[in-house]
Amino acid sequence: MTTLADLLTRADAIAHDGTVLIHAAITREALDAARIAVLGRKQGQLTSLMAMLAALPAEDRRAAGAAVNATKQVLEDAFATAEAAHGTTSDQSRPDDLTMPGRDSWIGAVHPVSAVIDEISAIFRELGFTIALGPEAETEWYNFGALNFPPDHPAMEAHDTLYLTEDTLLRTHTSPVQVRTLQTYTPPVRILCPGNVYRRDFFDATHAPSFMQIEGLCIDEGVSFVDLKATLSEFARRFYSGSSKVRLRPSFFPFVEPGAEMDVEVDLNDGKGKRWVEILGCGMVHPNVLEAAGIDSEKYSGWAFGMGPARIAMSRHKLPDIRLLYDSDVRFLEQFAR
Ligand code: PHE
Repeated sequence: MTTLADLLTRADAIAHDGTVLIHAAITREALDAARIAVLGRKQGQLTSLMAMLAALPAEDRRAAGAAVNATKQVLEDAFATAEAAHGTTSDQSRPDDLTMPGRDSWIGAVHPVSAVIDEISAIFRELGFTIALGPEAETEWYNFGALNFPPDHPAMEAHDTLYLTEDTLLRTHTSPVQVRTLQTYTPPVRILCPGNVYRRDFFDATHAPSFMQIEGLCIDEGVSFVDLKATLSEFARRFYSGSSKVRLRPSFFPFVEPGAEMDVEVDLNDGKGKRWVEILGCGMVHPNVLEAAGIDSEKYSGWAFGMGPARIAMSRHKLPDIRLLYDSDVRFLEQFAR
């Protein structure tokens, strides 16, 4: 004969074993099987408990019924927890909302500095320039000597330049490509050379020890400073939407004469208002450079420039600190994704 005590013992066992079974179910299938074993209407353990209850004397049924209900509640709660952990719900009254927009997946984007290089390349391509490349590991001669640096120039010292061996170094600018190009092709030559350069610089708001440069070179018969200024002004007009002011300031580089730097007037969003930001160095290619590359400087002349696309990206996007472009923080870079 079944007693109330039997039923209570059995109810405890079912609650305990059932909970263990439910939480042990790793897969969706195992969880469904556990549900049938525990709560299944025909063979489920709870059903067997109901059968015991029916066999009890009438005066015990009230207490027994409460125990059965409590057990059922424990098991149902365990299922709800397990189901949430499985990330699905069997609640068919709330099916998936098929009208929800799809989830966008992040597939990456062009870095703002690369985007600036692409844009500048496109502008100069329209002006008749071709892309040229050169090695990042250079000899002292290409990086300095052929570019008319005197043998004792301070830029050549180890505290400014990263030497690989006595005679080879990581190029400090893209200007050696001027010489390599002029050795290979006879004028007229119009090239644009984007590439990485290296300097022993501190990493601060406006400097990085490794950065991109874009070299430009135009050599032909009868090319003058007027062509240089006209071309760079046209570039600035296209790149900065025409409303930004640019200016040329006299400057010195051993490989040009005369030399200049070009500034653009921008607000960098740092509370200091509009100011002139240097974006490139330029000038008429020095006759010594042409001669070093085997070009007749009596017949040919031309100009060159070297610009910093990271600085240009800063002026374009009003960024106060160049390190933002090197941190690779996607939350920051994402806003420039096209
Ligand atoms: N090579 C120079 C630099 O790194 C830039 C430059 C290039 C200046 C060509 C004049 C002409 O600063």
